[in-house]
Amino acid sequence: MEVMTAWMVATSSAVADAATGVRLHDEVWSVGSSILLAALVGALALSLGKKSKAASFGSDAASNNVTDQSAFDDLIDEDFVTMGMPAEPHLEGGFQPPTRLIHSNSHDAFAFDNENCSGLFLVLHRPTYDSQLNNSSSYLYGDYFEGKKRLWELRFRVQFKRRVPQSDLFFGVELEEYVPVNAATKRVMDLSVAGMRQVVGDRLYHTLGDQDPVESERPAIMMPLWAFDQFIETPEGETPPDLSDPNLPEYGHKRVGQIREYKRLMDSLDLRPGPTFTFCFWGVSRFCDVIGWQATGIPIFTPLDLNLYCGKPPLHLVLYTLQGAEDKRHLQSKKTYYFRCGFWSSLKRPSKEVVRKFAGRSLELLKRARRTRIGQPAAATELSIFGLNVFQCCTDRESAPFQCPTSS
Ligand SMILES: *[C@@H]1O[C@H](CO)[C@@H](O)[C@H](O)[C@H]1NC(C)=O
Ligand SMILES: *[C@@H]1O[C@H](CO)[C@@H](O)[C@H](O)[C@H]1NC(C)=O
Ligand SMILES: *[C@@H]1O[C@H](CO)[C@@H](O)[C@H](O)[C@H]1NC(C)=O
Ligand SMILES: *[C@@H]1O[C@H](CO)[C@@H](O)[C@H](O)[C@H]1NC(C)=O
Repeated sequence: MEVMTAWMVATSSAVADAATGVRLHDEVWSVGSSILLAALVGALALSLGKKSKAASFGSDAASNNVTDQSAFDDLIDEDFVTMGMPAEPHLEGGFQPPTRLIHSNSHDAFAFDNENCSGLFLVLHRPTYDSQLNNSSSYLYGDYFEGKKRLWELRFRVQFKRRVPQSDLFFGVELEEYVPVNAATKRVMDLSVAGMRQVVGDRLYHTLGDQDPVESERPAIMMPLWAFDQFIETPEGETPPDLSDPNLPEYGHKRVGQIREYKRLMDSLDLRPGPTFTFCFWGVSRFCDVIGWQATGIPIFTPLDLNLYCGKPPLHLVLYTLQGAEDKRHLQSKKTYYFRCGFWSSLKRPSKEVVRKFAGRSLELLKRARRTRIGQPAAATELSIFGLNVFQCCTDRESAPFQCPTSS
């Protein structure tokens, strides 16, 4: 009960603080819902605290050195650099189906492709691991973040391969596994979800998930399409803006200051093959420092380790539609995914098994580099077969001119 009261005080004062700073009535929606979302994460974290400590997540593997390079049973920090990741802390992850490892603050967006949708994805993140750098603008995208409160921003450019009923589309974060929650936390969560509904409406969906053997549901916080902060529709035949374009914020429509009109525009979007859709999201970002892997921005309750909420990385960023209105649950069998991306902080990497699931051809880069490092004759053979320097194969390119030979 004390916990609950403290939480309510924290939340309401945060909402009040935010509301006084906001001039437009319309903007209260985004600020209020952002806080509630963050509060929800906090509430989840509260309950999971004890249990997760036992299962505290370690990347011990990273500190071990690799004695047998060819065994490939370990991943050290240097390996991630070999796989094209930056040396400084960053967000890391990969798509499903896997292509390669991707990271935040890259110069160019990363391409994804599946049977329902293809496109590009770019994540910008403030260097929250270094408060001086964070306070300057001397990093890639630093000029963009200057003067903004957001800690990160997600940018999607999508081309649908089938017509998508806009009202069935959800985006958000889900976990692959059920994480049990005790009764006290559940009460706190029900409260906060009720509060969120008042702001976002029935379309916001939160579930703790379950372990139903017949039809299981994953833990998730999912939002309707109009929770995106900006969208741009580019007609077929025209060139959509680059996701890294500094002028991107000036295109399309933004939610801020015109929530009703924005929602109307979003509702009338016809998501079909042909046009290109660009969506940007940063609404709740200041409440979640993803590189630091912690919830932030709520008095008393933050910072909080995100593992308290998710158990362990990765979290899954997803975009899906849901069929069948008779059961409200977001059951796996009813989902059609358009975008799936597992992500984690490079400061809290998951086990090598998880990394492998997402790494795709980045692993080929690593294998090749390791073989070259220990000078196996295989490298020389490839060299003569393909008539190319083997290192050309190792460069981190989005579209290799040919399929790199795989190791035996
Ligand atoms: C790897 O670890 C072993 C013992 O843990 C140590 O003897 C060896 O020098 C280390 N090798 C490198 C390259 O750090
Ligand atoms: C980074 O800068 C943002 C915006 O000024 C601020 O909200 C955030 O607290 C800063 N984080 C750190 C770790 O310095
Ligand atoms: C951030 O910059 C402002 C002004 O440029 C300065 O007043 C402040 O002390 C800086 N904070 C940090 C943590 O460096
Ligand atoms: C695409 O849609 C089909 C049909 O709903 C579904 O079976 C499939 O799993 C989807 N693809 C992905 C990558 O989720």
